[in-house]
Amino acid sequence: MTVQAERTAGSAAPVPAAEPGEAVALPSPLAAGARWPRLEALAYGADYNPEQWPQEVWAEDVELMREAGVNLVSLGIFAWALIEPEQGVYDFGWLDRVIGLLHEAGIAVDLATPTASAPAWFLAAYPHVRPVTRDGVVLGGSSRQTYCPHAPEYRAACANVTGQLAARYADHPAMVMWHVHNEYGAPVSECYCPVSAAAFRDWLRTRYGTLDALNAAWTTAFWGQHYTAWEQIDAPRRTPMADVNPTHRLDFHRFTSDSLLELYTAERDVIRAHTARVGRADVPVTTNFQLINCKALDLWTWAREVDLAANDHYLAAELPDNHIELALCADLTRSMRGGAPWLLMEHSTGAVSWQPRNVAKRPGEMRRNSLAHVARGADGAMFFQWRASRGGGEKFHSAMLPHTGTESRIWREVVALGAQLAALRELQGSATAADTVVLWDWESWWALGQAFRPSVDLDFKERQLAYYEQLWRAHVTTDFAHPSADLSAYKLVVVPQTYLMTTAWADNLRRYVEGGGTLVVSYFSGIVDEDDSIHLGGYPGALRDLLGIRVEEFLPLRSDWTLSLTGSTAGTATVWAEDVELRGASAAFFYADGPAAGKPAVTRHAYGAGHAWYVSTRPDPATLREILRAAAADAGVTFDTGTPDTLETVRRVSADGVSYLFAINHGATDVTVPASGVDLLTGESFTGSTSIPAGTVRVVRLS
Ligand code: GLA
Repeated sequence: MTVQAERTAGSAAPVPAAEPGEAVALPSPLAAGARWPRLEALAYGADYNPEQWPQEVWAEDVELMREAGVNLVSLGIFAWALIEPEQGVYDFGWLDRVIGLLHEAGIAVDLATPTASAPAWFLAAYPHVRPVTRDGVVLGGSSRQTYCPHAPEYRAACANVTGQLAARYADHPAMVMWHVHNEYGAPVSECYCPVSAAAFRDWLRTRYGTLDALNAAWTTAFWGQHYTAWEQIDAPRRTPMADVNPTHRLDFHRFTSDSLLELYTAERDVIRAHTARVGRADVPVTTNFQLINCKALDLWTWAREVDLAANDHYLAAELPDNHIELALCADLTRSMRGGAPWLLMEHSTGAVSWQPRNVAKRPGEMRRNSLAHVARGADGAMFFQWRASRGGGEKFHSAMLPHTGTESRIWREVVALGAQLAALRELQGSATAADTVVLWDWESWWALGQAFRPSVDLDFKERQLAYYEQLWRAHVTTDFAHPSADLSAYKLVVVPQTYLMTTAWADNLRRYVEGGGTLVVSYFSGIVDEDDSIHLGGYPGALRDLLGIRVEEFLPLRSDWTLSLTGSTAGTATVWAEDVELRGASAAFFYADGPAAGKPAVTRHAYGAGHAWYVSTRPDPATLREILRAAAADAGVTFDTGTPDTLETVRRVSADGVSYLFAINHGATDVTVPASGVDLLTGESFTGSTSIPAGTVRVVRLS
């Protein structure tokens, strides 16, 4: 395999959408600042766990990888016990052989640090390193991810084994990427042991400086929780009431995310020292996120520390149209590093083995999933795992090479996908075009999740997905951003639920609308500050003036209530209503019945050169789409409800302005789209329009 010149990636500005056929000049997303594995094509491969198999199998593995077009594997992810069978005793022989075999075959290596799975000898020698839950349960080994992030012995052992690996392989020519640990924060993130509680107190001292400041931020006057010495502060373990002080718990979330990040940066820096020493500082270091299933990490902060964003995504079997949740996740991953190319580190060829009902993918679905990630900026699609395990906890999980072997539909589809990704190599480094952005914030998600909220139906992820779904169905591609991000390049900003909103973030939104932007805000946003204390004077305190309204009272609905809405269409609403008073805004929808009957339900406020919309309830999907359509009209965003919503359409645009249309047909009927150009997957050319057969994908280089 040949390698190409170093590619560097950095922050990219949002790119304007274009009509099919219209070229858009873009800033290169591959600006200085970050790195990407040196591959000659889009990455294709998997987690490879050769240690689960006799060595005779390895040669066959490599031969079949070549047949499938695999060009990258992640190696050694859980292999600590094999690399260091006893403390200070190392066995690299097997890893040398595997890496050698892969390299001879031209398959590049993404070598993992194995620290997600501490060996049994380590847990036996240091039993106090096992994590403790909120309820005081000490978790066991015989699994993986059994560690307290604050234990000095664990930290030292991680640095040591990482150093051993980096010293040995930093200059190996097969090495193109370093994979630190595995899915930090999932499934266990928090630890409540005494060492963790002490580390939490240190973190609080740094955040607040004085106990007075902490007492004020935590409103400890409530229920007489006042602290007079730092030593009195514990980790927020289970209490007699439904929950502890909410700010205490919110800070513990922040602390946990920071602690895990320290683990990552410590390993990364050990690796960097070795790669710099051997002149391979261009080899990127990253870790695999689990973006929306792992709530524990503030990934905006984390993303600054990785050389490229890498994500693991698994379809939620129970969700209808779960390819829409996939798209959300891919857009969110792309946004982590400002639009720079990212890597789908893991997904599945078929069923997983950890959901209640592990629904299998049907023919063509894996390809649609993989190419949907690529459409949304991934420069590669990798799987868990290469060869399906024979034993162990994940033996029923699908793989590139199933238990059946090569005489299987999955294998045939795996080989076909490899060829298709190879045909897309010119897409490397191009950017996904989006003119709309959705705000996403982990702190707000954590804060909303505390006890004693006005309704159990307040649900951050549910609202995110609801708004995203209607944009997706109207073929609007969206980026995601932190509420403090520069939003000026976007035409439309959507805020499905940002309960915690600092004054600075609200000012950012105000500036955006003043400058001519269009904003849509859903209920229970802008309610509290960074300490989870209410912005007073009427809800939503942080955004009242911008939205031109004032809400005096929340009116959460009983679970069986459905209200009627009147506006440009008749609709319904559930879960939530509010007493909305107009203070400059005009009403677009009204409550026809229920506790707010006759009052505005959806409002629009002309503010500066822009418009701010407010949605005070949970409208049915069609009504939400109608509201977003009207806001998109204010924004000048194309809201395409004419093309069937079974067809996913996304564009990538290269730095020199070549435009690629991804058309992914998730439906059962063929769809015709306007497009002229050549389909990179089939080589077919067409002028004017082309048909996307049911269940298939076209990637059209537009002419
Ligand atoms: C995660 C892990 C993998 C594997 C898969 C199974 O993403 O990173 O090691 O357990 O889940 O879906």
